Amino acid sequence: MSATVITGLQWGDEGKGKISYLLCRNADCVVRFQGGANAGHTVVVSGKKLKFNMLPAGSAAGAMPCIASGTVVDLDEVFEELDLLKSTGINVKFMISRAASIVLGLHKKLDAVIEELRGGRAVGTTRRGIGPTYSDKALRAGIRIEDLLDEKSLKDKLEILKKVHGLEVEDLGRLMEYGEKIRPYVGDVGLFVNDLLDEGKKVVFEGAQGTLLDIDHGTYPYVTSSNTIAGAACTGCGVGPTRISEVVGVMKAYSTRVGAGVFPTELGGELGDKIREAGQEFGTTTGRPRRVGWLDMPLLRYAVRISDVTWIAMTKLDILSGLEKIKICVEYDVDGKTVKIAPPEVRFLERAKPIYMEINGWGKMSDESWKKVSERGWEALPDEAKAYVETVEKLIRKPIRLVSIGADVGLEVTK
Ligand code: IMO
Ligand code: MG
Repeated sequence: MSATVITGLQWGDEGKGKISYLLCRNADCVVRFQGGANAGHTVVVSGKKLKFNMLPAGSAAGAMPCIASGTVVDLDEVFEELDLLKSTGINVKFMISRAASIVLGLHKKLDAVIEELRGGRAVGTTRRGIGPTYSDKALRAGIRIEDLLDEKSLKDKLEILKKVHGLEVEDLGRLMEYGEKIRPYVGDVGLFVNDLLDEGKKVVFEGAQGTLLDIDHGTYPYVTSSNTIAGAACTGCGVGPTRISEVVGVMKAYSTRVGAGVFPTELGGELGDKIREAGQEFGTTTGRPRRVGWLDMPLLRYAVRISDVTWIAMTKLDILSGLEKIKICVEYDVDGKTVKIAPPEVRFLERAKPIYMEINGWGKMSDESWKKVSERGWEALPDEAKAYVETVEKLIRKPIRLVSIGADVGLEVTK
């Protein structure tokens, strides 16, 4: 039995899609357990770019995709991405939980309205309706997949929802059409996944967003509306904590954040622009430019601790090429005190002064030389790049077993 949870260690966009693909090459099933179409997971296979918002990106490697009950589902995206998988020649067996919540047009509208009324304190959401859908779920006024299969229940629930918001809601007929389309795939994902594990099958849980965007453990209120840490795989799918065999933390070789909120190691100016351009740090879901900064050890140590990460995959190391010096924030000075592991509390982080160490960079490398490195393995990396990874390993006290050096599958080394 093997159950691997993939979790983002920063503010999302760590490159979880590619890592999930790599880990799913010998997996039977891959599960999305939280979040919705706010996620943007990309895989590039043989130069072909596959973008996923709702289905787990690991499904592109042939593992059976599942969407579990902890998610908020954008059905248009689901159908589109099932077509995408089919077009790549993958035989799609797929299961979606009858208990997953559905994002309605109303939720997307509310997302935008709430952002507007927050004015200068807007979260900078993806406007995919995530927050309002989760809040209706918590209010017990949400619409679930199972409701689409039962006209009477759906009608009743839409009536309630209409009263709750005092707004028009989706057309019943349209939702019933979705119901007919989704019906063949609806099941009990929790039981299904537990059975697979009993049979000794390999399951990967593909987390979306990142630790610092977790609604309970992130930089609230500048967070998403779900739990994103590794433990959320258990509640979001319905598997017991003792079934999880390992947690893989994914971190980018530098930090990025899209949307508002505190960012202690943020880099402004030319250097920030340079890394943003090199790393193509523009949202896959919204196209927004991402804010860029150095690695932040106090926050990474926190992330690694609360998900009890087994090992780390570092992505986009190639993007730092050509920088003379690379900085790592090793600790903070907060009101004259040294802080090595930081709670992601906004007011606390606003007072944090990062203390940096500096290490030597390495020269620019051609695509051809990165390809050669990936063929030859870890030892073929420039010495300074190896030193950077090993320094991070020591500072974070967890092994970095996989280093990704390009978007395409194949451009990575194991250590
Ligand atoms: P992946 O899975 C990066 C951010 C938004 C915003 C905040 C709340 O690709 O790593 P929401 O729409 O969830 O209510 O927005 O969370 N955010 C992400 N940032 N990557 C993501 O997903 C994100 N999903 C949400 O930018 O700051
Ligand atoms: Mg993203």
